[in-house]
Amino acid sequence: MHRLAVLAVAAAIAAAGQTLPATAEMGQTMGATFNGAGETTIPENFRQWVFVGAPLTPLGLNAGKAGFPEFHHVYVEPKAFETYRKTGRFPEGTTIVKELVLLHPGDYPDGSRDEASGRGFFAKSFNGIDMMVKDSARFADTNGWGFFNFGHHAPPYAAKAAAGPADACASCHTANATKDMVFTKFYPILN
Ligand code: HEC
Repeated sequence: MHRLAVLAVAAAIAAAGQTLPATAEMGQTMGATFNGAGETTIPENFRQWVFVGAPLTPLGLNAGKAGFPEFHHVYVEPKAFETYRKTGRFPEGTTIVKELVLLHPGDYPDGSRDEASGRGFFAKSFNGIDMMVKDSARFADTNGWGFFNFGHHAPPYAAKAAAGPADACASCHTANATKDMVFTKFYPILN
């Protein structure tokens, strides 16, 4: 189908208040797409999506053993964000990217440093990507969301990834997340 036709269909479905499946036919309209092997890629331009927040679990506050010592920059695909804001629900196809961003080296044992604005933690460079995609049918075994890891290192990131097993990601989100597998409580704009 032509891209404009796809968009028109998507708009018509959205107008009818229905949800959209995250399938390849949809192109980039809702973020992630999948190949026949169930693998997906990092969505293009995700850094221009809606930036909802940046949790931080620095080494200095975790006895030097934080699993993710970087800022966690979280982006939600704009159409899904819009639907969530209107309905309070994440539509099918919702894609959320979390990019890890290393800190500038610290001046103090807690990893903080002095800058013109004060003592604190400051983002320096990209260092990894995790992603969640809502597709209730495809990911029925992990509460309707697929979890993907594209590497925990500086870019270039992995070109594609398959959904991880439940115990790697989904189980912790199932046990602890605030709303439909997402930690909405850490993103004021989603509350
Ligand atoms: C031990 C618990 C735990 C595990 C395991 C885990 N996460 Fe999370 N995840 C969190 C918490 C807590 C947050 C929000 C706070 C933060 O980022 O520190 C989060 C946030 C996220 C977000 C941003 C959206 C949101 O729900 O806040 C994505 C995307 C994400 N995780 C993907 C993954 C992927 C992919 C894996 C597996 C490779 C994974 N997570 C494993 C606890 C976990």
